[in-house]
Order: sequence, then C-alpha cells, then structure tokens
Amino acid sequence: TVYRASTTAPVNIAVIKYWGKRDPKLNLPTNSSLSVTLAQSDLRTHTTAACSTLFPAGQDTLLLNGAAQDVSGARTQACFRELRALREALEAQDPQLPKLAQQPLRIVSENNFPTAAGLASSAAGFAALVRAIADLYQLPATPTELSRIARQGSGSACRSLFGGYVAWEKGTAADGSDSLAYEVAPASHWPDMRALILVVSAAKKGVSSTTGMQATVATSSLFAARANDTVPARMRDMASAIKAKDFAAFADLTMKDSNSFHACCLDTSPPIFYMNDVSRAAVRAVEAINAAAGKTVAAYTFDAGPNAVVYYAAEHEAAVAGAFKAVLAGTEGWSGARGEAVAADEK
Ligand code: DP6
Repeated sequence: TVYRASTTAPVNIAVIKYWGKRDPKLNLPTNSSLSVTLAQSDLRTHTTAACSTLFPAGQDTLLLNGAAQDVSGARTQACFRELRALREALEAQDPQLPKLAQQPLRIVSENNFPTAAGLASSAAGFAALVRAIADLYQLPATPTELSRIARQGSGSACRSLFGGYVAWEKGTAADGSDSLAYEVAPASHWPDMRALILVVSAAKKGVSSTTGMQATVATSSLFAARANDTVPARMRDMASAIKAKDFAAFADLTMKDSNSFHACCLDTSPPIFYMNDVSRAAVRAVEAINAAAGKTVAAYTFDAGPNAVVYYAAEHEAAVAGAFKAVLAGTEGWSGARGEAVAADEK
C-alpha cells in the first residue's frame, strides 16, 4: 500500500518582523512577530506526502518543483523526526493502526509562483510539508500544535499554517514548547484589505535571513531596544489595530516596523542592505499616495530583499495603481496577493 495526503500552504508576509534568534537550532526568536495572508493570495506551495514499505528502505526523498532536494539537513530532519514521534505515539495507543512512522517518506512539492521571483518560499514550503505529513499520519494536531514543528523548518513557516492575521508568540521555554503561532483574525475579518507585491528584483537575496539575523544579534546596538521594547509594544498595538480594522494604525505600525528592521540591518557589521533605489522609490510612492489622500490609505513593508509589499484599502485601489505606474518602470512587475496579476503589462 502507498499512503498519501496532499495540502497547500500560503506565503505569509510579516508586518511585525521576526529578526533574531535566541536559539538558532530550534529557531526560537528574540521577539514575537505578526503576519498577514490575504484570502485572495495565490502564492502557495502544494505538497503531497506519501509513505510505503514499497519505497527503498531508509530513504526519505523530497522533490521541489521537480528537483531532488537534500533531506539530510537539520531543519528537514527535525520536522520528520517530530512528526514520526507523534505518529509513533498514536500507533502505540492503537495497535490496529498501520505502522506508518517507520516507512520511508516521499514528499513532492510545487510552488505555484516562480521560484526565482525573490519571494520568501521557505515559509510556505515547510508549512505545507508539515501539514501534509501530519495529514498522512492522521495526527489530531491543531495548526498551533503543528506550528511548533514547522518553526523548526523555518521560523516564519510557523505562521503559514494559518491564513489571515497570525501572531507567532516568541515564548520563553528553552525547549520551544511555547513558541507557537496563533490566529489573531481570519482574512474574512477585514474584507477591504488588499496587498500587492512589487517584484523589484527576482534575483536571489544577497544575505540569507538566517545568516543576516545572526549577524544583527551579534553586532547591532539598536537590536536590543527593538527586541525588548519596540516590538512587544507594537505586537499589542497591531493586534488592536487589526481587531478594530483601523487601517491608519495598521499601516503606521507596518511601515515603522519595516523601517526599524532595516535600520537594524544597516546597524549590523558589516552592514546589510536589503532595500535598493527602487525600494526607496516605492516608499516615496506610498508617502505620496497618503499625502494626496490626506490620510494613511497605503503601507509598505520589505523583507530580506528589495521587493515591496504594499497594503491598501480597497477603495483606494485606483490611487495605488496610478502611483505605482511610475515605480514599475524600474521593476520586474508586480503580482497580486489580491488574486490577479496587476499591471505587469503596463511596464
Ligand atoms: C525578514 O523565517 O526565513 O522575512 O528561521 O532562519 O528560516 P529562518 O528565517 P526566516 O526569516 C524571515 C525573516 C523576515 C521577517 C519575517 O518573515 O518575520
């Protein structure tokens, strides 16, 4: 018999950023973070997990977009080990269950977005991998319980087990048992929220998140204030802004937190530059949109690369599209987290 389960997990974009680990092995963060995944988001990883005694013994395999991946890395191994342990516990309780935990795993993943688009894919990738194996093993685990495992694959992956507005609470336990993701609100809570991704560069990022955040923790003097004071206050304010659907407060916190994160990158030795001239043009475009509207109707955020994610209220769609036409000239296009590709032909 070949046992099989399939699932998808979405890309998530943090509006309060995870940057810094207190435990690099378990991906335990120095601060909590909060992300948004809109219901219209079409950026996903689709994963099928299978296991069988017919597969070559002792050989777990992983195919990503058709290419064989190394599964011997500590992150993938941690996910496999944790999921197998949960399945073994089930099998120990109920001897009737087929013995799946010992069987070789065969994982097949596809990203439905160009892998070269420079978009964070490890989050959706590990979330889909963990959810698919959990389903294969019929584990009675909630997304929050699975977030403990996905986090060990990639920190941000723990937030991709949910859609909508998701908080990853940093936790305090040394074993990571309380470093988990929780839903703050479903995407349907705020139907007017829109996002677009401005693909400034499809090139692979210069300094990986994993490497960059360790360097920041080791060398930045701004970092401690961010982790200890700035982010905890923002986590509370952001959750309130989301619950109240207060776009101006949401936008203000989103932009401030992105800038605080990139300031810590610049304060790292040697400095890390993720934003470039086009990124800064996107910042100015958002400032211009808000100035013209006389209130905050759009917000930018940047991860560990130059691409901008812009959040805006649906009623201001025309203003956002108009302002970004000029910026688009310097980019590789944009992709709708809102479901359609927008204006990519207008470059
Ligand atoms: C800037 O989750 O990719 O996107 O835990 O080392 O795999 P690892 O790092 P990763 O870092 C994401 C950093 C970020 C901010 C965020 O998503 O919160």
